[in-house]
Order: sequence, then C-alpha cells, then structure tokens
Amino acid sequence: MGNGFKNSVDEIKNNKDITYEQLKTVLECNDKDDEEYLFEKARETADKVFQKEIYLRGLIEFTNYCKNDCYYCGIRCSNKNADRYRLTDDKILECCDIGYELGYKTFVLQGGEDPFFTDEKICNLVRRIKQKYPACAVTLSIGEKSYESYKSYFDAGADRYLLRHETANEEHYGKLHPATLSGANRKQCLKNLKEIGFQVGCGIMVGTPYQTLEHIYEDMRFMLELKPHMIGIGPFIAHKDTPFKDEPNGSVKETILLLAILRLLFPNVLLPATTALGTADALGREKGILAGANVIMPNLSPANVRGKYLLYDGKICTGEEAAECNICLKNRIERIGYHVADSRGDYPGWRDR
Ligand code: 5AD
Ligand code: FES
Repeated sequence: MGNGFKNSVDEIKNNKDITYEQLKTVLECNDKDDEEYLFEKARETADKVFQKEIYLRGLIEFTNYCKNDCYYCGIRCSNKNADRYRLTDDKILECCDIGYELGYKTFVLQGGEDPFFTDEKICNLVRRIKQKYPACAVTLSIGEKSYESYKSYFDAGADRYLLRHETANEEHYGKLHPATLSGANRKQCLKNLKEIGFQVGCGIMVGTPYQTLEHIYEDMRFMLELKPHMIGIGPFIAHKDTPFKDEPNGSVKETILLLAILRLLFPNVLLPATTALGTADALGREKGILAGANVIMPNLSPANVRGKYLLYDGKICTGEEAAECNICLKNRIERIGYHVADSRGDYPGWRDR
C-alpha cells in the first residue's frame, strides 16, 4: 500500500531535495502516525551526525537600539514604548565570564542595527572576547552591513554570523519590511558572509503575515542554493507595539514539521530549537529537538535588561538568571534522552583558522 506522506519523507531524505508537492504533503500532515514517522527519520538523521549532543550558545543581547523598522519586531525604531539600553564592553565580557563558567563555548552577540556600535567598536569587542576565551567561538548577529564591515569582523576573529533571510520571496519581504530594506540586499549579505569565510546562518519566521506555502517553498530553494551552516526558524509571535499586533501567531506544529524537513534536507546543519518556539509552546524546544534540532541558545544577557530585549510578546526566561536557565535546560535536554555537548559545536567538518 502506498502512503503519500511516508513516500514523500523517504524521497526528501534520500534526494536531499524537495518538490513543492512533497512540501505540501508533509506540511498538510494530519495523522499522528505519519507525523511520528517524519520526526523519527529527522531524529535518526540528527543523531547519526551529532550523537544526541545538544550545543548551547550563550546569547548576549547587547543593544536593543535599532535603526530599522521591521513591521514584526518589537525593537523597531518606531516603537516608542521600547525601553532602550546598550551594554558596555565590560558588561558584555562579564556575560562571557558567566557563560564560560557554565561551560558555554560559543558567545552570540546579538543586537539591533545600532549605529553606536561602529565597526571599530565591534572589532575591539570581538578581539577582547577572543583574547580572553581563545577556545570559544564568537557569533555575531547584528544585521546587514557592507562587505568590508563583515570582513573586518572576520579579521578581528569572529567565527560565525546569523542573519535570517526572513523570506526568500521579494514581494513577501516587502510586506514585512519598510521600503528601505530589500530581500535582494539581505541575500547578498548572506553570500558575502559565506565568501568571507564565516559559518553562516539564515532562516525564517514561520507563519508571518501574508506567508504562503509557495513562499516557504521558495525559502527551501533558496537555502538549498545557499547551503547555510545554521538555520534559525521559529514561529512568528505578534508584538503588541507593532503594526502586526493583531496578526495571528505562527503554528508550532508547522514549525516543528519544517524543522524535521530541514534536518532531512541538511543532515549536518546546526539547527536551533528557538526561544520563540519555547515561547509559543511550553515544551516547544523539546519538541524541536525531537524533530531534529540540535542547538539551544540560552540567554546570557544581564537580568536587568532581559525584559527589554523583546522582539515578540511573552518571551520566556526574562525573569531567570543565566545559571537558572542552564540548570533548567540541562534537565530538559536529559529528560528527553539527549545531553549537553562539551565541544565548541562547529559545523561538522569545519576547519578552524
Ligand atoms: N516573532 C518571532 N520572531 C521574531 N523575530 C523578530 N521579530 C519576531 C517576532 N515578532 C526574529 C527574526 C529575527 C530574529 C532575531 O528574531 O526572524 O531575524
Ligand atoms: Fe530559562 Fe528554562 S531555559 S528557565
């Protein structure tokens, strides 16, 4: 007996490619048995590469100033209710100290596009962290910059860069962003980052306003072409002070199905179970891991600013200290049969400089 769903899963897995029809078949899944088949295949694929290890990345949200005005984002420049802050270099180093003590080997510096942090400031910061923690990776997630800026960060020692493409469809991109931003530039930035030598992460939000299945398929095509080292996906969650405040949130189920598909398409990719997924569903991150995700990004930001870096409503872990999240996560990971990795967690086969 043929099963369209399971056949699609097998073909995606074997071909490392996907057709529009296969994507549609999988995302329209309404059978528990089929769903479990997909998750099992995705899990097997991840476990073969990562041996049930979960990589933790310490996330330091160092500025919530942003010159951009993305319609979905709580720290958009038009949001006058956002309580703005910047961390000093010393404060950021302190976050790294705490993270290092907790065993984290990657520090992710994430912020809005804040002109205060010039290339020189970013480079100095990266050099300071790499000097103090040479065995750790530094990941930047600070938006769209010129080729020369990216190159300077890389030369200062930054290892990885996260820049979600948000949507590969230009028209859809235009419905999520003001005209000052373009999908074409976003994609060019990702190409530049790869060319320079970063481990590069792209990604999308699931269930953004106006998103269609065709858009998601375009995202798949784009990612198959880009060959990213990391893919960040999480559900869209409305923020009360944005133009999308009344829009419905993205679906947890769709996010998890997509995580599983991505794992089958990209067996080696670093795939976080995101904080947004953990916000949309109390067990979202566990469900993500059981669908093939292998990364979690615990928050290392100082407790007094956590409640200010709010891209969406209801964000988890804004009241916890780094040490509390660490224990909580370790327990959650072990409860589902996984364990926290000790290594730096580079892309499989990656050769460090
Ligand atoms: N809901 C979910 N994710 C969001 N992001 C920004 N705003 C939201 C939101 N309202 C995601 C974007 C961005 C990443 C840092 O956070 O995809 O690239
Ligand atoms: Fe922060 Fe569980 S991860 S409390």
